Amino acid sequence: MIRTAIIGAGGIAVKHAQAINRIPELDVAGVLDPNPERARVIADLCGSRPISSLDEVLGKIDMIYLLTPPSKRVAYAETAMRAGKHVLCEKPLAVSLEDACAIRDLAEQTGVLFMTAFNMRFRPGYRMLQDDVLSGRLGEIISVWSHRVGPGSGFGTPLGDSWRTDPDLVCGMAIASLSHDIDMFRGLGVEIEMVAARVQGVKPELPAFDNNAQVVLGLAGGRAGVINASWSAHLPTSSRGVVGTRGTALIRGDGFFDFVEHRIRNDEMEYPRSTWLNDLFDAESYYTENRHFADCVLQRVQPDVTADNGVEALRVSLAILDSSRTGQTVQIVRSSS
Ligand SMILES: NC(=O)c1ccc[n+]([C@@H]2O[C@H](COP(=O)([O-])OP(=O)(O)OC[C@H]3O[C@@H](n4cnc5c(N)ncnc54)[C@H](O)[C@@H]3O)[C@@H](O)[C@H]2O)c1
Repeated sequence: MIRTAIIGAGGIAVKHAQAINRIPELDVAGVLDPNPERARVIADLCGSRPISSLDEVLGKIDMIYLLTPPSKRVAYAETAMRAGKHVLCEKPLAVSLEDACAIRDLAEQTGVLFMTAFNMRFRPGYRMLQDDVLSGRLGEIISVWSHRVGPGSGFGTPLGDSWRTDPDLVCGMAIASLSHDIDMFRGLGVEIEMVAARVQGVKPELPAFDNNAQVVLGLAGGRAGVINASWSAHLPTSSRGVVGTRGTALIRGDGFFDFVEHRIRNDEMEYPRSTWLNDLFDAESYYTENRHFADCVLQRVQPDVTADNGVEALRVSLAILDSSRTGQTVQIVRSSS
């Protein structure tokens, strides 16, 4: 049995609690949230109890779920890892590179298992695209794209109704959400070497809230990529794809993260081949992700997506913001972990 505590009992905690309920080896010893009602909701959902501090259960658990707003992770991560507890941490890993590297370095020093929960890695549609690339079916990558726009945080909802638009906690779309796109590209085996970006926020009353980004990415090996993302578009639509030397493949849907079609054609195919998917935002990926980490804990092996993946995604997000601020192209300089 793996015993865990859930820290942060908001929207994403519902997805994780539902997933935990389907994994017989997982048991929740306590749920921590400054909002007692939220702690109670999640505790009831997974047959647990609210707690008022991590110390209350630290001696009884094997791991934590770290599901707080991104700026509120470091102290919990340090307490847990110094006590030898494994961590499943939501994305983005942190909002500053200093915090993200501190978390990663401590994970490596303590030898605990640490997963940055980039659930897109576990989406069936994304895995089809990844397989197209990694199998060589598309040849060498020439370019990649992620186009996804729609009504997101702060669109038609009052500012301050969640950490995403709370002036004290806001980190904007480039950090909070582009982390997914960046990590999806990295999961295809491409390294981002430079960015040129323009980032915009359309809420003058909340200047730190960027909710639009147009990004050109220079990838290792002379390759290139683009990200076009908006949280303030009136129509939702998305498409991600790869142009390769032997073929092209894409996944697309309505909504930022819905995949309803996978389509491919390569030089061995006379016609494109479409596969219709029911890979919607709230579907199975949280279960698959949780199952993966539970198996890693049971077998003592590092997960497919580590703290370092969180650091590298954040590094690119910060470069995007820097490029937009300065009007300059920004080179990505990786730190060794
Ligand atoms: N992978 C995904 O698909 C996905 C989707 C949604 C959210 N997320 C991520 O999950 C994290 C949480 O997002 P959410 O949508 O659940 O937000 P939310 O606002 O619904 O919930 C956040 C919860 O954290 C609590 N909280 C605030 N400060 C805290 C603290 N110091 N200690 C403990 N709890 C605290 C809040 O009271 C709230 O209940 C974010 O990092 C977000 O990016 C990931």
